[in-house]
Amino acid sequence: MKVPFLDLKTEYVELHDEILQALDRVAQKSAFVLGEEVEAFEREFADFCGTKHCVALNSGTAALHLGLLGLGVHADHEVITTPNTFVATAEAISYCDATPVFVDIDPATANIDPKLLERAITSRTRAVIPVHLYGRPADMDPIREICARRGVRILEDAAQAHGATYRGRRVGGLGQAAAFSFYPTKNLGAWGEGGAITTDDDQIANFARAARSHGQSARYEHEFVGFNYRMQGFQGAILRIKLRRLYAWNAKRRDFAREYRTLLAGARVEIPADDPRGECVYHQFVVYTANRNALASKLAAREIETAVHYPRPVHLQPAYSSLGFPAGTFPHSERACERVLSLPVHPGLSMDQIAYVANSVREIVGDK
Ligand SMILES: Cc1ncc(COP(=O)(O)O)c(C=O)c1O
Repeated sequence: MKVPFLDLKTEYVELHDEILQALDRVAQKSAFVLGEEVEAFEREFADFCGTKHCVALNSGTAALHLGLLGLGVHADHEVITTPNTFVATAEAISYCDATPVFVDIDPATANIDPKLLERAITSRTRAVIPVHLYGRPADMDPIREICARRGVRILEDAAQAHGATYRGRRVGGLGQAAAFSFYPTKNLGAWGEGGAITTDDDQIANFARAARSHGQSARYEHEFVGFNYRMQGFQGAILRIKLRRLYAWNAKRRDFAREYRTLLAGARVEIPADDPRGECVYHQFVVYTANRNALASKLAAREIETAVHYPRPVHLQPAYSSLGFPAGTFPHSERACERVLSLPVHPGLSMDQIAYVANSVREIVGDK
């Protein structure tokens, strides 16, 4: 049995007619950049997240960048995040000429460890970016308490967590602003690049709307030096259609995760416990093992594709060597990167495929 890591084709077959009609609507109006479909998506996604505003952009990286600028981050500032993330989280800090400061993860959650956060805050700290990695919300209550007390702002990196909840509240509205990615592989994915900022803050939303369009307040009136970070019309139309399926797709991911947990109980791999504080949306379902590469190649021999998110923490990437953090600085993040393996969990799979993956993993690693 073949088990692809990702299968965007099944989704296309399911949505074919609806999507082509929506693309035709955009083309008929030549609304290729922003336009009615994007505006409608902004309203619908803001409603979904329970926020006042959504500003649609052309990538999650752009959303992180404008989110930080909207929080007033500039060259004198430090911004805290974890090294166990996709490099874009740190890049956005660098784009503001600010300094990334890393805090290690809690190995139980793979997210920033709130217990380590406070001692990383200095007089230069302007913001924290908690990353909801793999679709699991970071532990926001202690993070919000510390940040409120120390005057530090929060930009959620929700690129992997569309629809996840923390104590009953959707991610996207748990800080001053949040950044989402709609890269095609995400739980809510466009047919190309896409991203958005969600926020309740009028000033941040107004800033992001102007900044995505060359700092423009009215046609050819440029208040400040901005960017071309606008969402394409086609992407807005597609995202509206897919947003209506997101509940069902996320529910399927959660069912698959539950099945993996049941079938892998007692096997010689570590599986992070499900989060009692909220609903993880399982952008990835990860396991940890000392023999990650061997497990991946034995699964590949059984036609099961896997992936590694991520093989190297950001502080050990050549791009960030100038920060001067040697190996050993963030031991939990480093250990996670050495041992993590993502198993297929996308909603195009069947329960039989999930069972085949789980049984294969169990046969390969053995029982505890
Ligand atoms: C955690 C995280 N942050 C940021 C990004 C950047 O998003 P994009 O690829 O849309 O720029 C991604 C997506 O790859 C991500 O996974």
